[in-house]
Amino acid sequence: MASPLKVGIAGLGTVGASVVRLIDEQRQQLALRTGRPIEVVAVSARSRNKDRGIDMKRLRWVADPVKLANDPGIDAFVELIGGEGGPARAAVTAALKAGKPVVTANKALLARHGIELAELAEKRGVALNFEAAAAGAIPIVKTLREGLAGNSVQRVYGILNGTCNYMLTRMEREKLSFDECLKEAQRLGYAEADPTADVDGLDAAAKAAIIASLAFHTRVGLDDVSVEGIREVTADDIREAHASGCELKLLAIAQRRDDEHAQGVSVRVHPALVPNDHPLASVHGAYNAVLVEAESAGRLMFYGQGAGGAPTASAVLSDVVAAAAHRVHG
Ligand code: NDP
Ligand code: HSE
Repeated sequence: MASPLKVGIAGLGTVGASVVRLIDEQRQQLALRTGRPIEVVAVSARSRNKDRGIDMKRLRWVADPVKLANDPGIDAFVELIGGEGGPARAAVTAALKAGKPVVTANKALLARHGIELAELAEKRGVALNFEAAAAGAIPIVKTLREGLAGNSVQRVYGILNGTCNYMLTRMEREKLSFDECLKEAQRLGYAEADPTADVDGLDAAAKAAIIASLAFHTRVGLDDVSVEGIREVTADDIREAHASGCELKLLAIAQRRDDEHAQGVSVRVHPALVPNDHPLASVHGAYNAVLVEAESAGRLMFYGQGAGGAPTASAVLSDVVAAAAHRVHG
């Protein structure tokens, strides 16, 4: 068997701790599937002594994530800190410059600096993988990059924020307040460290920018997306939606435009009334769904958990496996 892939993980919160756990649990199967063992050898987070429900004794602690990214003892760097700049951006840049493949779940970072990071990865000939950055456990990045590579995509739309969908579901079913639902989403690990990104639609917008860039082979950044979140949604709005045979959902919609008004790509996020007989109306809780309309393939729908430790870790791990197999995308 080939030598192990030695992984360094920066960020041991909801997602990072789940990734360490999953790699541990899947040790043997991963080695068989990839032809080489995958080992987490070093980690970084803010507080060294926090109980994370994982065995920290065998993991080398590197306080500075940039140092971890440059560490000669790791072959691949996994960034699960979050945030569009700061230590996440510095560490990902350092790892790519050092010629190490990077895996990240950080949509905020990619929607702002993805192009510059992708160019750096290409220059160094290493992978920058981000399956977990859009739609949680749903493999939409690989689907757009690989599965639909022979298609011309016309439209991609769906529910991309688990927190908002969870909140809207509970507000509707249990008549709970906005604040109660948000607290619960935070407790369950669905919300971002700063949950305004969720409720104001920016998290869904970042994911929509990433998906649109891949679907339409162009450069869409966060500032190109028109955004309205769910902060203004009231119990009355939800009741009225119901009375008119609809569900109220936060939708992300990316489509090609080629008409008398515009040419190019339009990307937007906003609350919308979804008729009860539409497939998106039955997507509840922290689930996400993505519909893709492609020229040859027709209409495809992907559905799965959009937030939470284990579902996100599953997507992160698929990228770590790709790094172990030396798969690199241009
Ligand atoms: P958490 O807030 O739970 O975890 C963040 C981790 O980063 C913590 O372990 C924290 O350390 C560490 N950290 C923060 N600042 C630093 C720093 N300066 N140096 C080193 N470590 C630092 O976030 P999540 O796990 O929820 O999210 C991580 C990433 O995954 C984000 O980009 C998020 O958008 C993305 N994501 C999250 C999903 C989810 O469902 N939660 C789903 C899909 C993507 P400490 O623990 O010591 O405070
Ligand atoms: N906060 C995000 C959400 C996490 O609720 O969808 C998954 O990207």
